[in-house]
Amino acid sequence: MTLFEKLRCLFTFGQGVALPLPNIDPNADPHSLFKLWFDDANKSGILLPEAVSVSSVGDNGQPSSRMVLLKEFDSEGFVFYTNYASRKSGELNNNDKVALLFHWNVLQRQIRIEGCVEKVSAEQSAKYFHSRDRGSQIGAWASRQSSKTQTETELAENVAYYTKKFAGQDVPLPEFWGGWRVKPHYLEFWQGRASRLHDRVCFEKTTNGWDNFKLQP
Ligand SMILES: Cc1cc2nc3c(=O)[nH]c(=O)nc-3n(C[C@H](O)[C@H](O)[C@H](O)COP(=O)(O)O)c2cc1C
Repeated sequence: MTLFEKLRCLFTFGQGVALPLPNIDPNADPHSLFKLWFDDANKSGILLPEAVSVSSVGDNGQPSSRMVLLKEFDSEGFVFYTNYASRKSGELNNNDKVALLFHWNVLQRQIRIEGCVEKVSAEQSAKYFHSRDRGSQIGAWASRQSSKTQTETELAENVAYYTKKFAGQDVPLPEFWGGWRVKPHYLEFWQGRASRLHDRVCFEKTTNGWDNFKLQP
């Protein structure tokens, strides 16, 4: 983090403490509101504002969470990329219910999202995969994400193997790697306010569009 970014972060936090915080417009559509808040998070100087917790549920009903990076979003949903043979993907294959959680501390904001997942097309995954640096592309081939490490040298050996295998050519998209789109049916925008009297504005998908309502803090 540069000194400038640190100063911008401090300034944003100071504004939240010193000035009245903005009200949430309950008539906004949740996608426009998400975009507004995501842009604010990008401007705030927070490191990795696109970091988001993803929770999936195992066959035994046990939820598990981990961070990923949000790479795309639009009215269809929120997309992150990962290994399709990982623990999270195994759980999402068997149970498509998922929850996302963003927390932008300096903005005193949280967004909760609940929905179902679907895989993005191989074309979309390939487009994103090829936009990554070559090291990350080789890394995706080399790592059997979420499998037990067998030997200390296994990963480095796999990296060396795929570096040699794909030398002089584009690294192809592995068939075990790609994007998941979270299609939301519930979003809650939480704005921290003085005396813990926080704003909570929720959007629930209906057959015609979105209903909204407020919850007590
Ligand atoms: C800030 C942050 C961002 C991450 N982004 C990703 C990501 O975009 N995709 C991914 O597969 N793992 C990402 N990870 C690693 C995951 O949190 C996790 O360790 C990995 O995906 C394996 O999870 P699983 O065993 O539950 O499938 C990220 C971790 C952190 C801390």
